[in-house]
Amino acid sequence: MPQTYSIAARLLHWLTAIFVMALIILGIWMTERAAANLWDALTNTLYGWHKLLGFLVLLLTAIRLIVKARSVRPAYPESVSPATIKLAAAAHGSLYLLLIVVPLLGWAGVTAYPALVTLGGYHLPAMPGIPKDQALAKQLFEIHGNLALVLAALAVAHLSAALHHLLIKKDNVFQRMWRLPKK
Ligand code: HEM
Repeated sequence: MPQTYSIAARLLHWLTAIFVMALIILGIWMTERAAANLWDALTNTLYGWHKLLGFLVLLLTAIRLIVKARSVRPAYPESVSPATIKLAAAAHGSLYLLLIVVPLLGWAGVTAYPALVTLGGYHLPAMPGIPKDQALAKQLFEIHGNLALVLAALAVAHLSAALHHLLIKKDNVFQRMWRLPKK
């Protein structure tokens, strides 16, 4: 049984964490500027980065689910109770689900609007099967924004649990996703 997650799993995990943090900040910042009718180069750049990073998170999560299906998860220390392991599995399952659903809703929204242009004039592909319909886009963006905030809250709970293991319990749980494997 491995002691830590594979390098690929850890790289995908920390890249996703950084991107999601950036996406929440960009998402709130750009929509506040849009609400204030500030349509300048900065607002466009924020939207461009948000769409590009959001699409990347979707791709990274798809790769991550394949890596996960093909690898063995490191064991939890014996001090971790079966109830805690079940709770963690439910939280991780919900995080994966939101990491797929939230970007899919954003992508569907920009397809319906349509607003597929990202940085440097590069266009995302349109999501197949989504009609051009601004009322639909508005609804998709609303669900996208609300679920993104649920994702952020769950990510904070997840980080708190990980820090609790690192700083208070001082068991091996955090290191499974952090430490470089011993030579
Ligand atoms: C994990 C991935 C993503 C996260 C965490 C995320 C997060 C957010 C957040 C927090 C907001 C602001 C919501 C609000 O305050 O009203 C937002 C808005 C938005 N997102 Fe995302 N997003 C993600 C992926 C995407 C993707 C893939 C796209 C498109 C390709 C996208 C396009 C948009 C757009 C256009 C808005 C503005 C909607 C509006 O004007 O009402 N997002 N996102």
